[in-house]
Amino acid sequence: MKRIVILISGRGSNMEAIVRRCAQERWPAQIVAVLANRPQAAGLAFAREHGIATAVVDHQRFSTRAAFDAALAETIDAHRPDLVALAGFMRILGDTFVRRYAGRMLNIHPSLLPAFPGLHTHRRALEAGCKVSGATVHFVTPELDHGPIVIQSVVPVQPDDSEDTLAARVLASEHRIYPQAVQWFVQGQLRIEDGVVRHVVGASQLLLQP
Ligand code: GRF
Repeated sequence: MKRIVILISGRGSNMEAIVRRCAQERWPAQIVAVLANRPQAAGLAFAREHGIATAVVDHQRFSTRAAFDAALAETIDAHRPDLVALAGFMRILGDTFVRRYAGRMLNIHPSLLPAFPGLHTHRRALEAGCKVSGATVHFVTPELDHGPIVIQSVVPVQPDDSEDTLAARVLASEHRIYPQAVQWFVQGQLRIEDGVVRHVVGASQLLLQP
C-alpha cells in the first residue's frame, strides 16, 4: 500500500476527489493524512469525517519560511508518505523542502502550464482572450508552478465566461485529472525522461472536456 499525504489550504475539493476515487477504485494506496496550513481550512472536516488523520501547521506561527517548511516536513515525514499531493495548497515552499520530496510530490494548477503560473489564472486567461483553458498536474520542482507535466485537461472558454464560470468548468476537470495522476503514481506507471513524464503503457495524458 502506498502512503499518501495531502496538503490543503481551504475547501479541499481536489483532496475530496482523490479520497473518493481511492476508496471507490480500491487503489493500492491509503490517504494517511490531510495537513493544512490554515486552522480554518474547510477540507479538514471532510478528512476527519472519513477517518483520516489531520494536522495543522499554521504558517502564521512561524517567523521565517524556513522554520515553517521544517515544521511542515517534520509533520509530513511522521506519516512516512510515498507521495505528497499539494491540493490547493497556497504557500510557496522553499528549495530545501521541494528537493526533499523530489519525484514524489505532485501539484495541481488551474491553467495550461507553462501559461499563467501563479495567482489569478482565470482572470488572466480571460484578459488574454484565450479560447481554451484547463488544468495541469505536475511534479513539483523549485520553480513555482513548473515541473514535469503528468496530465492536462483542456476546457473551452465561452464568450460570456466570468472568472467564476471559467473556474467552475476548470475545477470539474481538476476533479478528474488529479485522481487519475495520483492513481498512475501509486501504480508505478509514471516515468520522467529528460524532464518529460511518460506513462509506461502510453495512456493518454490529455483530457478534453466539453
Ligand atoms: C484549485 O483550483 C486548485 O487548482 C487551485 O486552488 C483550487 C483549490 O481548490 N490551486 P480545492 O481546495 O481543491 O477545492
